[in-house]
Amino acid sequence: MEMNDNGSYLRQTRWHGIMYICICNGVTQRDIRRCVEQGMGTMSDLQRELGVGAGCGQCACAAKEALQEARREQCEFGEALQPV
Ligand code: FES
Repeated sequence: MEMNDNGSYLRQTRWHGIMYICICNGVTQRDIRRCVEQGMGTMSDLQRELGVGAGCGQCACAAKEALQEARREQCEFGEALQPV
């Protein structure tokens, strides 16, 4: 487990270069990035599309961080931001 900036442990697993964000639903950082590329920009969007946080809920903080990172990456290419 890794410790993030605010001192809590990220509940993420790295496997062959794929970072799993939600173990319950097998959601990777790549899945979240793909959703953002398709225009989804909120945690509600991710919950509806991928089921993130719909199981044990332990992934909520990591999913939000992954969403923010994906949106930041998208912003670098000139895309508009929407509230998380
Ligand atoms: S790890 Fe995402 S709901 Fe359990």
